[in-house]
Amino acid sequence: SPRLYSGMQPSADSLQIGNYIGALLQWRTLQRDYDAYFSVVDLHALTQPHDAAELREKTRRTAAQYIAAGIEPESSTLYVQSHVRAHAELAWILNTITGFGEAGRMTQFKDKSSRYGTDATSVGLFAYPVLMAADILLYRTNVVPVGDDQRQHIELTRDLAERFNSRYGETFVVPEAITQKETARIYDLQNPTSKMSKSAESHAGVLWLLDEPSATRKKIMRAVTDDEGSVRFDREAKPGVSNLLTIYSALSGRPVPAIEDEFAGSGYGDFKKSLAEVVLAEFEPVRSRALELLDDPAELDRILSVNAAKADAVADATLSDVYDRVGLLRRR
Ligand code: TYM
Repeated sequence: SPRLYSGMQPSADSLQIGNYIGALLQWRTLQRDYDAYFSVVDLHALTQPHDAAELREKTRRTAAQYIAAGIEPESSTLYVQSHVRAHAELAWILNTITGFGEAGRMTQFKDKSSRYGTDATSVGLFAYPVLMAADILLYRTNVVPVGDDQRQHIELTRDLAERFNSRYGETFVVPEAITQKETARIYDLQNPTSKMSKSAESHAGVLWLLDEPSATRKKIMRAVTDDEGSVRFDREAKPGVSNLLTIYSALSGRPVPAIEDEFAGSGYGDFKKSLAEVVLAEFEPVRSRALELLDDPAELDRILSVNAAKADAVADATLSDVYDRVGLLRRR
């Protein structure tokens, strides 16, 4: 069956609702129809300031949340990126065919580097999307389900695959991004025109999968709305309410107009209370399952190890081809 690849950075103790709706919900459904690979991209997480012990813990926690949310580690390959050495090795090769200007045009890089300043911006951050391309291309991936913010990186991945193929001969599959139109971007509840993010400066508008239910409820009740007082989707004029409607719809499976109808004439308070119930009904089983899995880190590590071995075999075969194509002498 065709291949699917995706991953998340272990950059926080918990995933946030944008990761869940923008990526995990799709992963869970699509894994049935694809030979699916899901990684915890710890090498990528090194591009941000971090503490070593905490990174290890966040890596386990991210893996636990994948499983708790329904990724099946017996049929899908769920592993930690750094366990498969081919990722860093292929990234090096791809660095040699990536233009400096091309990498510099990545908007995520531009945003982050302008925030950090040139001295705090590492070469690793610059090369981040090339490592991501390596992740995807190693598995000869057909589809990459991601949120909207990753589309440009997938475009770069396609360009690199085509460039390599034309320079060195057919080697890589050119992958396609899959995004869900309406839910591809979830916004911060306090700042509903910017994307919700694990690395947001303030956490007041971020809904964490592993938060206490009372904290989640409070954040929803305090979400920024507007003065109009009607539950109506209008991304331009009503970004806060529209974002809440998107979340409501994604998690309840009900179309936005049906939700608008239900709350016609009621205030934002009732709508938010109902949304909190919808969110918690989804989060609670995932949260308790994740915490259960984290109680047995040895078992979690065992699952990750078995899966890394599966990934390693596929990745190694691709990397050997690549080494041959580019002219590296084989070690005998
Ligand atoms: P990361 O860890 O930032 O996010 C993981 C996934 O969650 C999606 N996402 C969102 N979707 C909707 N609304 C949001 N507010 C929101 N925030 C995050 C992201 O689009 C992503 O799908 N570079 C990637 C990780 C990566 C990767 C890969 C992905 C590394 N290698 C190979 C796919 C294939 C990243 O930082 O995702």
